[in-house]
Amino acid sequence: MSVTAVVGMQWGDEAKGKFVDYLGSSARIIARYNGGDNAGHTVINPLGTFKLRLMPSGIFNPGATCVIGPGVVINLATILDEIRLVQQAGVELETRLWLSPRCHVVMPYHPMVESIYETAKGQSRTGTTGRGMGPVYADKVSYNGIRLFDLADETVLAEKLRVQLAIKNPLFKAFGLPPLELQPVLQEKLAQYAQIAAYVRDPFGRIQEALTGDEDILLEGAQGSLLDNDWGTYPFSTASTTLAGGASAGLGIAPHTIQRVVGVAKAYTSRVGAGPMPSELFDEDGETLRREGQEYGTVTGRPRRCGWFDADLLRFTAQINGATELALTKLDVLDSLATIKIGAGYRMEGDETGSLRHYREGDALWLGDARPEYLEMPGWQQPTRGLRDFNALPAAARAYISRIEELVGVSISMVATGPDREDVIRR
Ligand code: IMP
Repeated sequence: MSVTAVVGMQWGDEAKGKFVDYLGSSARIIARYNGGDNAGHTVINPLGTFKLRLMPSGIFNPGATCVIGPGVVINLATILDEIRLVQQAGVELETRLWLSPRCHVVMPYHPMVESIYETAKGQSRTGTTGRGMGPVYADKVSYNGIRLFDLADETVLAEKLRVQLAIKNPLFKAFGLPPLELQPVLQEKLAQYAQIAAYVRDPFGRIQEALTGDEDILLEGAQGSLLDNDWGTYPFSTASTTLAGGASAGLGIAPHTIQRVVGVAKAYTSRVGAGPMPSELFDEDGETLRREGQEYGTVTGRPRRCGWFDADLLRFTAQINGATELALTKLDVLDSLATIKIGAGYRMEGDETGSLRHYREGDALWLGDARPEYLEMPGWQQPTRGLRDFNALPAAARAYISRIEELVGVSISMVATGPDREDVIRR
């Protein structure tokens, strides 16, 4: 038995889906433990290109049971769409998809509450994906949530909805949004639940069986470590625990069982939404990264902010996740650049100490004033796309990889050089 967690080391969109698909080929259980349909995972395989938000990317491995753990919040319309999409591609789900009844459900009022928050904040808004994540997790921790358990019983659901609408409708009225009526919401949720009821089954026993038997488990993190609710750039973060440690509570798996943590990082940095990003580029190089990396959000289509690789951030996220190895993605996006920079720590305006400062020292406001100290390296200006052998990489690309390893303090075991499943260098 082995348990491997695949987690994002930056602000999400690190191409984790590719590695879940790749590493999950031997896994018997592939599980998501955090987030909801704010995530966007693109999986490219012989069946086609799939943009998944909730369904574990490992669903294309026919031998694996795919689990959505209690730490995940479920938008029923999204999971239903994805069930249809994947079934149309000929994938069998009846025995393989397990949704924990403990999962909280995104209700129509959650994105509405979120839009009120975002509008009220104006310039300082988080720039969310608009999927209601903050409000659904807020309801969860304040004992106002509705779980899949509740959807199985019309009386229970109707009563919980009645209370929530009594709280939320006055807010909608005050902010000029139409109030929600109980019956249409109730009927919609009951009808959607009826279509997924067969998949709602507690995965706990199945996971315990795998842990005691000889079965591999793959844990699929959503979003990135710098969006973690506690350790990310709060309040420019997401609502869930995005770290490897989140898998323990979010799935129901003891911490010591997670032996391998694969931290996935892009060979540069990107971010979608608001919040500090010290190595962000506003010049031609930033444009090159966006264009070559096709940096547009999977869920929202928004152009992503792009910048140099920030090793200070990676050192922190590698430590907090206990990354046992790194997977570096999209190396080929850097192919045309003459000079490549790596952020190695920060300088603060007016700081006379002369020493480099680090992410862990401050909050989002502090990070907004931090200026990276860059190391410069020559680019390789040769195509690396699709290369699968480390020694076939140009010397400058190998030097870049080694430099990142030195600065972060963790080995890079895999390098992705293109979008196809097999475009991976294993070391
Ligand atoms: P929320 O998760 O929709 O509440 O958005 C909060 C922040 O997290 C925003 O900056 C989003 O752009 C960001 N975010 C959420 N999910 C993802 C993701 O899967 N990839 C990248 N950024 C994300």
